[in-house]
Amino acid sequence: MANKSVVALYPGTFDPVTYGHLDIAERCVRVFDRLIMAIAVNSDKQPLFDVEERLGMLREVTGELPGVEVDSFEGLTVEYARRKGAQVIVRGLRAVSDFEEELKMASANRKLADEVNTVLMLPSEKYFYLNSSLVKEIARLGGPVDCFVPAVVNARLREKLAARAY
Ligand code: COA
Repeated sequence: MANKSVVALYPGTFDPVTYGHLDIAERCVRVFDRLIMAIAVNSDKQPLFDVEERLGMLREVTGELPGVEVDSFEGLTVEYARRKGAQVIVRGLRAVSDFEEELKMASANRKLADEVNTVLMLPSEKYFYLNSSLVKEIARLGGPVDCFVPAVVNARLREKLAARAY
């Protein structure tokens, strides 16, 4: 049987990357040969961090993970997946409430590119409630976020929020 290398794409906004995203990435490197964590830059969201800042944080926090590439893209996720030779799109599924949106996206993506399959990964239960907005809100209100994000992200959040206060 041919030894086929499986490339997975984990797209997202990553504004900023949290321990929940990293938990998914760690699970992915145990299953797939390569993982591309890619920031979708055409999101409707108004990010706190620009793309370069988010790329920098992603690179720093995934530095120890084998087989991980960090990138950004514009346009359709499936087109980017095709360009990168990714056969799989990975998305995290934290709670039942995520399911409807993920089903919609996975179905649309399948319609656009049937050869690209979506895999929904469950993060550790301790991150089920976590999202980037929650982290930003807690940080903005002066609360501790070190249990939600790596130290480098915590530091960048503090710097960014301090700069915004002026
Ligand atoms: N741990 C912690 N937080 C998680 C998480 C996890 N495991 N999984 C998701 N989240 C959070 C994110 O932090 C984010 O929080 P926020 O809304 O507070 O910022 C939220 O859940 C969902 O965001 P994310 O996973 O980043 O996805 P998204 O909805 O921002 O991005 C894209 C979705 C970018 C993948 C999608 O819009 C896309 O593919 N865009 C490209 C254009 C395209 O192809 N469109 C057609 C798609 S069918």
